[in-house]
Amino acid sequence: AKSPVTVTVTGAAGNIGYALLFRIASGAMLGPDVPVRLNLLEIPQAVKAAEGTAMELNDAAFPLLDSVNIYDDVNQAFEGSNVALLVGARPRTKGMERADLLAANGGIFGPQGRAINDHAADDVKVLVVGNPANTNAFIAAASAPDVPADRFNAMMRLDHNRAMSQLKEKTGTPISEIEKVVVWGNHSADQHPDVSYATLAGRPALEMLDAEWLSSYFVPTVAKRGAAIIEARGASSAASAASAAIDHVYDWVNGTPDGSWTTAGVASHGEYGVPEGLIFGFPTISRGGAWEIVSDLDISDATRAGIKRNIAAAQEELDAVRDLGIL
Ligand code: NAI
Repeated sequence: AKSPVTVTVTGAAGNIGYALLFRIASGAMLGPDVPVRLNLLEIPQAVKAAEGTAMELNDAAFPLLDSVNIYDDVNQAFEGSNVALLVGARPRTKGMERADLLAANGGIFGPQGRAINDHAADDVKVLVVGNPANTNAFIAAASAPDVPADRFNAMMRLDHNRAMSQLKEKTGTPISEIEKVVVWGNHSADQHPDVSYATLAGRPALEMLDAEWLSSYFVPTVAKRGAAIIEARGASSAASAASAAIDHVYDWVNGTPDGSWTTAGVASHGEYGVPEGLIFGFPTISRGGAWEIVSDLDISDATRAGIKRNIAAAQEELDAVRDLGIL
């Protein structure tokens, strides 16, 4: 039998955690023959709730679940981590200033990045889900100088999956036949969902969809989907976010299918004018456990404008973080 892979999940007692942990333990994230050791990190007040979730995980009797360990100590939680899902974050509460939100999250993702640097396994892969995901991923990466920057990703997969869901609803094309969608930029309302290269059952999406529907319905519906879910459900997206995290890590570890790509928030090497190091949604292919950015696309004026808008928003947020002395 293979030896267990250590997976650390922060914010394990939260809503996403509850939807995520059972799918990890079932084998959906790493594959059907990979045992997992789950390390759950929570703040002290939520450790008891995490213990309840651990009881349920054990009661589900997953054959692949080696063990569940609960920590409120960041260094212990990341000891030997091969995969780290950084889900726990400080949510924006009513009347909270952006600077306070960024400061609170810098206070979480800086120390977690350092703990990953000092304690995680050499092959650690980190996916940041907690918002603001792209900025938090940048902070964690900057706090882990010994870990290659390309091991810190921000989750853009939910946005990518939402874009596919809208295309399926509009055209009836099965998800399995929707290819080469991309959501450029940040997991925020600035994001740029793009079907310029997409095919629907082999046909170019741009031939099947009118420009008016794309600009006035598709783009805002995908970008504002999070708010629509809150409005309908009375709580933010949790199971779909967990599912996107599973998809992201599955592809990162196991590779993307030949001829297709997905969207991942990965560190730029300067592609498409995105400043080096910025963690940004790009079209990406995964091979041998590493992402490659698809870097040779012809970019329309609209896409270029969308990329620029996202660079500006990301840099502005990072400037605010620097002003707070976090970076
Ligand atoms: P939640 O509030 O239900 O759970 C968050 C959990 O994190 C809580 O149990 C809390 O105790 C824990 N936590 C807070 N600080 C922590 C720390 N320093 N260390 C460990 N745990 C800590 O929130 P939910 O719904 O699970 O969402 C989690 C995050 O994911 C939020 O920031 C949310 O905005 C974000 N999100 C991101 C998406 C994306 O596409 N990138 C999609 C949906 C949500």
